[in-house]
Amino acid sequence: MRSLFLSTLIFSTALGVVVPRAGKKIDYNGFKLLRVSLSEGAEDVEAQIEELAAHVLNPGKTAHLDVVVSPSDADAVTALAATSTVLNEDVGAALAEEGELAAYEVPSETWFTAYHSYADHLSFLSDLQAGFPGQSELFTTGSSVQGRTLTGIHIWGSGGKGSKPAVLLHGTVHAREWISTMTTEYFAWQLLTKYASDATVKSLVDKFDYYIIPVVNPDGFVYSQTTDRLWRKNRQTVSGNSCVGRDINRNWPFKWEVPGGASTNPCSETYKGQAAGDSPENTGLRTQVDALKASTGIRLYLDVHSYGQYILWPYGYDCNLVVHNDAEHRSLATRAASAIQAVSGTAYTIGPACATLYATTGDSTDYTDGVGNATYSYTYELRDTGRYGFTLPANQIQPTVRETWEGFISMLKDA
Ligand code: ARG
Ligand code: ZN
Repeated sequence: MRSLFLSTLIFSTALGVVVPRAGKKIDYNGFKLLRVSLSEGAEDVEAQIEELAAHVLNPGKTAHLDVVVSPSDADAVTALAATSTVLNEDVGAALAEEGELAAYEVPSETWFTAYHSYADHLSFLSDLQAGFPGQSELFTTGSSVQGRTLTGIHIWGSGGKGSKPAVLLHGTVHAREWISTMTTEYFAWQLLTKYASDATVKSLVDKFDYYIIPVVNPDGFVYSQTTDRLWRKNRQTVSGNSCVGRDINRNWPFKWEVPGGASTNPCSETYKGQAAGDSPENTGLRTQVDALKASTGIRLYLDVHSYGQYILWPYGYDCNLVVHNDAEHRSLATRAASAIQAVSGTAYTIGPACATLYATTGDSTDYTDGVGNATYSYTYELRDTGRYGFTLPANQIQPTVRETWEGFISMLKDA
């Protein structure tokens, strides 16, 4: 991996937004991670803090904001906040613990001990598929702003291709959530490599058709590796505005127009876009959801994120609405959380998304439930609860993917 620390080549614009100089990676050395609380009704102060921050790590949470700020802006943020604590004195040092991107090797367990480039993720998928040509194929569903195809792997069992209800998995909608790429790939790896030797896996592969897209936001993911490790959104521009990116998980055309669960400010981490479904990534993903709905139907949809250790289900857009099969969602999530905890002790919080975490409009699981008619729709928020956040050290990849796999197969058995 290119060094995280090329040099101090960032500057703040008049708005405080951190913009890298052309071709250089943002150096987070000396940046602080602050947890700030705001006085009641201080929306203008919140906006000012967001403008000063390089990134908000938990956009949408109302109790407190976790913000990464440059050394020169830290005092200004502290002065605006009602209270503030320093969670990390040096974000750059924390990023360094994540480890280097590995050189490419053909798929093996070793894959899950390091992070990888986007090109290598594509090689992993095609090399994995090539090992199981009779029960898998690669597919694409649309492309990104910069023209990268959204690429996934379709896996089927003894019933033949396309014969069973769909299990649809999305990873890396938020560019910085690298552990979600690794986890969705591990699921594909396990389903294919254990099929012949493990009766449980065989029965689960025979029960469903799997459609797994480890990176649904490739432009953002590449940008998080070349330029800004903490980038979240896609890389779409807005005419007349210098801020970049829509939050693809606020762009789905279901209850998109409802206020409160997304931002209309293009500079925000949760910018919803100018119109429902106006990102090309969303178009590609939605096309597949609609097609699966019309063919075999969707039994289970998982949108894999980090961090926080949550299993969430609809709805995001309204904290008082109860999904018609809330009890079934809760029962699968309860058993999955126990299965995860049994592996490693990692504790998950479960519940309806809005009431448990925060409100979101135009999110994927509301769409797969409300429009896609998926029987089950979940958001997973993987490890951890904030110590490392998005930059989980490489030595936690394998423990994370293994425990999450147990949660996943628990859901597949019950679904
Ligand atoms: N953290 C993710 C996001 O911000 C998932 C949100 C899940 N939905 C919710 N209403 N909390 O997109
Ligand atoms: Zn996310």
